Amino acid sequence: MSEHNHLLYIETVGCQMNMLDSELVVAALRHQGYQLTSDVEQADTILFNTCSVREHAEHKIYSALGRLKHSRRQRPGQVIGVIGCMAQKDQELIFRRAPHVDLVVGTGQLAQIPELIDQSREGRQHRLAVSLDRRDATRQQVSDSFQSYDPLRDPEMRPSPFQAFVRIMIGCDKFCTYCVVPMTRGPEQSRPPADILSEARRLASEGVREITLLGQTVNSYRYAVDGRIWRMSDLLLALHDIEGLQRIKFVTDFPRDMSDDLLQAVRDLPRVSKYLHVPAQSGCDVMLKRMKRGYTVGEYREMMGRIRDTIPECAISSDFIVGFCGESEDSFQKSMDLLRESRFKNSFIFKYSPRPGTKAHELLADDVPEEVKRRRNHEMLALQNQISEEDNSRLIGRDFPILVEGLSKTARKEGLDDPRVGGALQESQSSQGSQAGCDDHPQLVGRTMCDRIVVFDGNPRMIGGFVDVHVYDCTQTTLLGTIITREYQHAGSDLLPILA
Ligand code: 5AD
Ligand code: SF4
Repeated sequence: MSEHNHLLYIETVGCQMNMLDSELVVAALRHQGYQLTSDVEQADTILFNTCSVREHAEHKIYSALGRLKHSRRQRPGQVIGVIGCMAQKDQELIFRRAPHVDLVVGTGQLAQIPELIDQSREGRQHRLAVSLDRRDATRQQVSDSFQSYDPLRDPEMRPSPFQAFVRIMIGCDKFCTYCVVPMTRGPEQSRPPADILSEARRLASEGVREITLLGQTVNSYRYAVDGRIWRMSDLLLALHDIEGLQRIKFVTDFPRDMSDDLLQAVRDLPRVSKYLHVPAQSGCDVMLKRMKRGYTVGEYREMMGRIRDTIPECAISSDFIVGFCGESEDSFQKSMDLLRESRFKNSFIFKYSPRPGTKAHELLADDVPEEVKRRRNHEMLALQNQISEEDNSRLIGRDFPILVEGLSKTARKEGLDDPRVGGALQESQSSQGSQAGCDDHPQLVGRTMCDRIVVFDGNPRMIGGFVDVHVYDCTQTTLLGTIITREYQHAGSDLLPILA
């Protein structure tokens, strides 16, 4: 393996799958002597890990590439790479729009990045590594061309020592008409349970306390081996026994595959987070059919009822698209009704963005004006925020066991950052209503068993362990609390409490 003394700048947009991919690419490059920099001007290697789900995310990458045109001319040794979903989707188009880009590497070829960068430095020519188009070959050939990238991880290089993502499947076969993911991430392929379990065991032995299982539709997980079929619930059961793991989460679920065995596993396994992310996308049957989601609003409601009956305390979150092709005011109000009655913990709400290569782009007119999309987006967000705040305020006065994840955003901004801690956190804490604590008790952040974010003052040594927190106030996104037990057990200890 060649040794370098290079400075790497990487920008990551999109979902958690992209965050994991970037983490693994960065680890591979650091192994070769690369160092990370947050200053693009200093870097001799610049990577963009991209997202194609909405047009806006792609625009941002093309603008960033445009800004680099000049610097690339002045620094002939510099290598610029576009990796991930947009690389798979746009392929040579990226070189045509931005000729100063050296590498285009799709989601299925990430393992080749170190070598491709080396080659680029040796001889300047465009290098393209992408998977087969789903229409151009057999399913087996296309699947083989999308290689899951799950190398062993170096514990020193994880963004958080206590939390890790674990991929359980790649790709998607649902083909919702608006969505580009089945093209950019290829056919659905579940990882062998033995690989998942050994990765999780290894992470736990290195100090990881919480794993989040990743897949586009995790509850569609299926793997046949030794004459038995592993479902998501079997996987949870097997992972649950791993010593040291305290919390297991998984995203994202597909409504039609929300089976009773999975709900019972979530209910019965104390270390599995009581939290499900099950995107509804719309509350109108006409839209759901046009989106080819494969369920009716009635079936989604029935599923919500089953979740609430089986796991009454479960927090549920959702995604919605507003302004999809032909969405009338009446259709939109039906989505508002579904949101109102479902009382999601939170919802991600998106304006429909037509994506080339999808059925909706090909066959349906994008006929809802932008300002209508924007208004519906705001209306829906306002309703969700109101629900989140109401439900959060019902929790004021209660106590919760919290897995401490790291310093809060505010504390990190105050310069109390430990680069090894909290890097993978995604808390969206609002700045009002919370203050960074004093230096010896900075503000920490953690989550309840139902995935609710809580901030409280504490000792950074608590990070990775459990504390009991009393909630005294809240915002739409965050519970504010105080620690009620000073007795805590550090993640290094084998005696972590098991919480129901
Ligand atoms: N336009 C807007 N939102 C989209 N999503 C997926 N494709 C599109 C699109 N073309 C949303 C869905 C999905 C989330 C990850 O992104 O709500 O659940
Ligand atoms: Fe896209 Fe639908 Fe697959 Fe989700 S289930 S990734 S929305 S095609």
